[in-house]
Amino acid sequence: GFDLTQAFFNPIQHSAPPSLTKRQTKISVIGTGNVGMAIAQTILTQDLTDELVLVDINPDRLRGEMLDLQHAAAFLPRTKIVASVDYSITADSDLCIVTAGARQITGESRLDLLHRNLKLFSNIIPSLALHSPASILMIVSNPVDILTYIAWKLSGFPSNRVIGSGTNLDSSRFRSLIADHLDVNAQDVQAYIVGEHGDSSVALWSSITIGGLSLLTLLEKKDIAYEKETLEEIHRAVKESAYEVIRLKGYTSWAIGYSVANLARTILRDQRRIHPVSVLAKGFYGIEGGEVFLSLPAQLGRGGVLGVTNVQLTEEEAQRLHDSAKTILEVQSQLGI
Ligand code: NAD
Ligand code: LAC
Repeated sequence: GFDLTQAFFNPIQHSAPPSLTKRQTKISVIGTGNVGMAIAQTILTQDLTDELVLVDINPDRLRGEMLDLQHAAAFLPRTKIVASVDYSITADSDLCIVTAGARQITGESRLDLLHRNLKLFSNIIPSLALHSPASILMIVSNPVDILTYIAWKLSGFPSNRVIGSGTNLDSSRFRSLIADHLDVNAQDVQAYIVGEHGDSSVALWSSITIGGLSLLTLLEKKDIAYEKETLEEIHRAVKESAYEVIRLKGYTSWAIGYSVANLARTILRDQRRIHPVSVLAKGFYGIEGGEVFLSLPAQLGRGGVLGVTNVQLTEEEAQRLHDSAKTILEVQSQLGI
C-alpha cells in the first residue's frame, strides 16, 4: 500500500548512532485536575521534557485532557503526551509530580484534607516507586508537608529524592506583594517564606533583598520608619491569598503551575538554584523532636535536594519556625505516624 511517511520523508540511515543519542526526559503528573493540568501546560510551554505522562482515576477526564493538549502540538515544542489509569505508563520517569486528591472548599484549611488524601497516597506512592525507583518525587497535594513525609515513608526513597512544593508558592506570593508595595520587579526581590505551606508559615524579613539591598536596611536608610505592622500585614496577605482565590474562583492553579514548573526546571536541568521547598528538616535550624518535612531554603539539582542553606534567622524567626514544625508534628502524632 501507499506509505505516507515514505512519500514525505527520505530517512537517513544511521544519522545518529544510538550511543550518541541523549537520554530522553520523562515527567509524570498524577492527578489531572486544576493543579495537575496547570503544571502540565506550563511544563509543555516551557519545553521542560521529552515525554509527559498523565495519570488520573477518572479515565474520561484523563483522555479528554490528553487529547486536548495533543491538539495543541502545532503551537508547542515537540513533546510526547500520553495518559493512562495504569501506573506502568509512568515507568522510568525522571520526575513524578503528585497533585491527585481532594482540595479545600471555602471554610476548610489544608490540614482538613489530610484523611481524605492519606488514603489515595497509600496506593499512588508505592505504584510510582515500583515503576520509577530512581525518580524524584515532587508532592503538591495538600496538606503538602505531611503528605511529603508520607510519600517519603511509603516510597522508601532517600529523603533527597522526596520534595514537597512547599512554600516556593508562598514565597512567590510574598515576592509579588513586596514588589507591588515598593513598585519594583518581583524577579529582583529575594525573599523567603519557610515552614509549613499554609497557616503557620514563617516570613524571613531579615533575609529580604531587592537588587542586593537588604529591605530592612533600605527602609532605615530612606528614613522610612521600620513599619513592622506593614510587614506583618504583607505576610497575613500571603497566608490569606489561597483562601481568597478559592473563595473567588473555587481553586488555585496558575501560580502553583508556574511554581512547580520552576522547580522541575531547576531539578531536571541541574540548575542548582535555591528554592524554599519541603524537605526532611530534622537537624537543620535546630529543628529536633521528630521527622518532619517543612520548607527551608534548599539547593536543588538533578540529584534532588543537594543541601539546605544556612540563612541567618532572628530569634523570633527561629521561634516561629520551631512552632511551625511543632504544628505539623502534632498532626502527625495524632495520626500515629
Ligand atoms: P481537582 O479536584 O481539580 O483535581 C484532583 C484530581 O485528582 C481529579 O482529577 C481526580 O480525579 C484526581 N484523583 C483523585 N483521586 C485520585 C487517585 N487515587 N489517583 C489519581 N488521581 C486521583 O483538585 P485540584 O484543584 O487540582 O487540587 C489538587 C490538590 O492540589 C489538592 O489537594 C489541593 O489542595 C492541592 N494544591 C496544592 C497546592 C500547593 O501549593 N501545594 C496548590 C494548589 C492546590
Ligand atoms: C495554595 C493551595 C491551596 O494555592 O495550597 O496555596
